[in-house]
Amino acid sequence: MPGLTAPNALARAYRRFGEGDAAATSPLYERVAVALSESGAALRAVEAAPARRRHPTVILAALHDLALAGRAPALATAYAAADADAAAGAAIDTLLRMTDQVVALATRRKVRADETGRHAVLYPAVAEAAHRAGADAVGLIDVGCSAGFNLRVDRVGITYGDGRMLGDPSSPVQVSCATVGGRPVPARAMPEVVARIGVDDDPVDVTDADEARWLRACVWPDQPEQLARLEAELTLAATAPMELLRGDALDLLPEAFARVPADALPVVTTTWALSGSSLENRLRFLHRLDEAATGRAVAWVSAEGVGVAPAIPTMGDRRASGHSILGLAVFGHAALRADAIGRCWSRGRLLAWVA
Ligand SMILES: C[S@@+](CC[C@H](N)C(=O)[O-])C[C@H]1O[C@@H](n2cnc3c(N)ncnc32)[C@H](O)[C@@H]1O
Repeated sequence: MPGLTAPNALARAYRRFGEGDAAATSPLYERVAVALSESGAALRAVEAAPARRRHPTVILAALHDLALAGRAPALATAYAAADADAAAGAAIDTLLRMTDQVVALATRRKVRADETGRHAVLYPAVAEAAHRAGADAVGLIDVGCSAGFNLRVDRVGITYGDGRMLGDPSSPVQVSCATVGGRPVPARAMPEVVARIGVDDDPVDVTDADEARWLRACVWPDQPEQLARLEAELTLAATAPMELLRGDALDLLPEAFARVPADALPVVTTTWALSGSSLENRLRFLHRLDEAATGRAVAWVSAEGVGVAPAIPTMGDRRASGHSILGLAVFGHAALRADAIGRCWSRGRLLAWVA
């Protein structure tokens, strides 16, 4: 919805969002979005934002952020009480009273999708990478890390559908993952993680209270399970510091590799981070990994749409077929071994291990 310019288009977009996207899961956002679509004054306030920043998810997150910050108490109360009518009135009131603040947030911040729960696919893949490379310590480099949750994959507990458990059962982050197919997920434990490096051109630093609140604001207010998952990740984040490198991954990868101690295997991870890059840049990314592997082994674990991760076999699956491929590439001194080791669905909440 890049160009929400004409008032009627804006009204239609908000109604469509409310009655479509939100209706199934969020009675609060359904009611609020429809109310905004019916208020000329509210739509004019939304028009104060740049055309590309008028999407309901952006404006609603900005309003939610003000509520969480204590700057829109009536809206906060209505959301807490799950009172959709009160929320609709309070959202319009907040938007009209605090248009500048809403627009500033909508312009500055990117809506973050739910980035929790990738661990169930990453954990066995990173352990497999270390096993193949004969490493007993790894340095994690998450490319497109956003808030960096993937970088604590060794600190979580995972329960698979077949009953297998991996990781730390006392961790605040406990994920469950359904499994399909005949092969069990390997029981191998994660080796020691000696470096955690996140690379992103727009990372989220969750140690900053405003940035952490924005992540909470991006969760729809009547989605308590999603909020609980985020809170658990934020609790865990405080226990394992990481380094964040801001900028383009192609430029920063050499620096990231240099930060991994020489006796540890650098394991680059990408989860749904490459699809926005051109094929040329994805091939350059692959080349960067290859270059880094001249003096040491390097591994790359990918969870990306079918055909997105270069060199990772697609197993004959069609692109855009609704699932992703879990890939493992190990760059040795002389050779690259690249395999598809799994298929996954729902951003890693369902896994078929195939290696
Ligand atoms: C769709 S999000 C995925 C975030 C996370 N990995 C996940 O599993 O949800 C893609 C992230 O990659 C970052 N990104 C995309 N291309 C990048 C590049 N060339 N260099 C650095 N970061 C990039 C974006 O800023 C964004 O945070």
